[in-house]
Amino acid sequence: MAKASLQLKENVEGNFFVDSTCIDCGACRRFAPAVFGETGEYSFVYRQPQTDAEELEAQRSLLACPTASIGTHHTADLNQAKQSFPLELVPGIHINGFNARDSFGADSYFIRHPQGNWLVDSPRFTKHLVKVFEAKGGIDTIFLTHQDDVADARDYARHFQAKRIIHRLDAGAAKDAEIIVEGEEDTQIGPGTIIFTPGHTRGHQVLLWEDKFLFTGDHFSWFPKLNRFGSFRGACWFSWDVQIQSIEKLKLYQNVEWVFPGHGHRGKVEQQSFPDYVEEAVTWMKSVQ
Ligand SMILES: [Fe+2]
Repeated sequence: MAKASLQLKENVEGNFFVDSTCIDCGACRRFAPAVFGETGEYSFVYRQPQTDAEELEAQRSLLACPTASIGTHHTADLNQAKQSFPLELVPGIHINGFNARDSFGADSYFIRHPQGNWLVDSPRFTKHLVKVFEAKGGIDTIFLTHQDDVADARDYARHFQAKRIIHRLDAGAAKDAEIIVEGEEDTQIGPGTIIFTPGHTRGHQVLLWEDKFLFTGDHFSWFPKLNRFGSFRGACWFSWDVQIQSIEKLKLYQNVEWVFPGHGHRGKVEQQSFPDYVEEAVTWMKSVQ
């Protein structure tokens, strides 16, 4: 529970506040961009919700916050926000909320598919999500983009008898994963194409779904302020040059229309324009050394 005694001085007055336990993961800013902003060190409330829709978004942020750093001064009924998770972004693809501290608050996703549902990275293991996943037919496969965002994947795998997929070079974080991908070639597993994209970590992979949806972990995301895609230079743990090469490779996947990252913002592009965005990102990244 967030503590009013620890609330940040930057919060505007009103019901919602962020306290000093915030780790600046950015999840709240993505769920409620009209309410939560960034000081550079923390997230904070720059504007209280003005409408019912903004109130619901702020409540979702409170539930998604991995460190329970968001609070309200008055008791709030969070049931509607809770029931809205996992939140459908496009037909069949949901964002889970309940971001895990173990993955530094990365977003995770749930994909519904007649041949078996997939989880992309892992949210906190919560009763609510387990119940919803059960009602939607369980989880067949858990794709782990990389070693940082494994969180509670083992608990979900055990509960749902699901197969976890991770690359050998990042498998130290999930040694008992059911499928360990070797090598650098694309791997087809059911409806998912798994693409080897080292750079952020040595064994990072992304998931291409139905040719159109790209789940990018910490490899690639939308930068709203810069109006382009790219990667976080300050959060590249293996090799920036290798990461740029891995991004260049994404040009091959011309039909991508949506990018769903772990950290960073989601991005949508017009049909057939993805290679141009990738090219622009690569040029920019080469200038950031
Ligand atoms: Fe990461």
